[in-house]
Amino acid sequence: MLVTGGAGFIGANFVEYWLGAHPGDRVVVLDALTYAGNRASLQAVEGRPGFEFVTGDICDGGLVATLIRGRAVSTIVHFAAESHVDRSIVGPEEFLRTNVLGTQSLLQAARSVWMPDGKALGPVRFHHISTDEVYGSLGPADPAFSERTPYAPNSPYAASKAASDHLVRAYHHTYGLPVTTSNCSNNYGPYQFPEKLIPLMIVNALEGKALPVYGDGGNVRDWLYVTDHCRAIERVLLEGRVGETYNVGGGNEWPNVDVVHRLCAALDTAFAADRSLPARFPACPAAKGRPVSELVTFVKDRPGHDRRYAVDTTKVERELGVTPEESFESGLRKTVAWYLEHEAWWRGVMDGSYRDWVQAQYGDSSAARPAGAPAPTD
Ligand code: NAD
Ligand code: DAU
Repeated sequence: MLVTGGAGFIGANFVEYWLGAHPGDRVVVLDALTYAGNRASLQAVEGRPGFEFVTGDICDGGLVATLIRGRAVSTIVHFAAESHVDRSIVGPEEFLRTNVLGTQSLLQAARSVWMPDGKALGPVRFHHISTDEVYGSLGPADPAFSERTPYAPNSPYAASKAASDHLVRAYHHTYGLPVTTSNCSNNYGPYQFPEKLIPLMIVNALEGKALPVYGDGGNVRDWLYVTDHCRAIERVLLEGRVGETYNVGGGNEWPNVDVVHRLCAALDTAFAADRSLPARFPACPAAKGRPVSELVTFVKDRPGHDRRYAVDTTKVERELGVTPEESFESGLRKTVAWYLEHEAWWRGVMDGSYRDWVQAQYGDSSAARPAGAPAPTD
């Protein structure tokens, strides 16, 4: 299995999940180690037989083809992307390069190795990880996004993911490449970069910084614990029908301001229960017995901010038996506990030094590069 973007949030959780559930499998992670990718997120699997890490860019079709051929890859799970909406508003170019051209480069490499004579040589699968944001925004009473909802992406990020979905579809329709796509709602859990809502709020609260809620805080997202997403991807890989798309979600809609208040309450509880936390995080209001929610601050809205996402999961439930196992309460509790226990990880990924440290521990991945592949760029 080739996992692109496996050093990012969902990719790293997926690799750990997959090797736990399928210990005999071999997994190669290809990741460019952008600001969002960190070897530290793969510590649980580093050194395991069957795991290999390659630093590289999905836009490098030669490297990808060499990997697919050299490692006899039969499954590609494609996570690599620029994933943060706010960054896409500030600088869309990188989103088009990685999300659109990078996906096309992967599809072309897979096709060239797997289908040299126009037919797949064996059982192969290209699974594309996408998002519910391709469907646009819902009003309060609108039905949830189904697989038949027309695409209406609103941010440069969503537009680039929509384009990548269309390319995946086109490679199946035109060339017969065996593909599946899943479109998932908002994930949360361990190893999420602290620029996304939930980890940003936790880290800011611990440092006594403002908790910036965009607009009126009434925008609604459907939250799914990341391991539930990994389980859903597993089901699609094992049982999903080639050429199909599957919507994945948590059935767990919350306005942002409520999510932030739940996190504040979880931190209040954690500080009350653990006497070491006030000394470790003295700037957090809870260290002085004050409610964390005093940090909540309403700020200027995100341009083009989608009001509501909700996912109709009937198809994935009915065809593949996928339903979330984690409740929002237990998932948030686990997530808060994880960030409290992994201060070195989040401080490190935010300043880059921990990433350098991990690279030094595990060495350069050039040793793992297949013969003839170009040198890593990072
Ligand atoms: P992330 O930003 O945490 O990780 C992205 C990873 O891709 C990083 O490791 C980064 O180094 C790597 N990468 C970026 N550009 C690359 C390139 N050119 N070549 C190789 N690697 C590159 O993202 P995430 O939140 O883990 O999301 C993973 C995928 O899931 C994305 O495709 C995203 O669109 C999709 N998705 C995310 C969510 C969510 O809530 N986070 C929900 C639905 C779908
Ligand atoms: O729906 C799936 C998508 O979810 C994924 O495709 C994206 O990769 C992922 O980033 C996420 O997109 P969102 O824009 O919904 O996630 P984000 O965490 O950036 O924001 C969640 C909500 O919280 C959104 O309505 C904006 C709001 N927000 C976000 C931040 C970072 C705030 O109010 N304040 C903040 O500081």
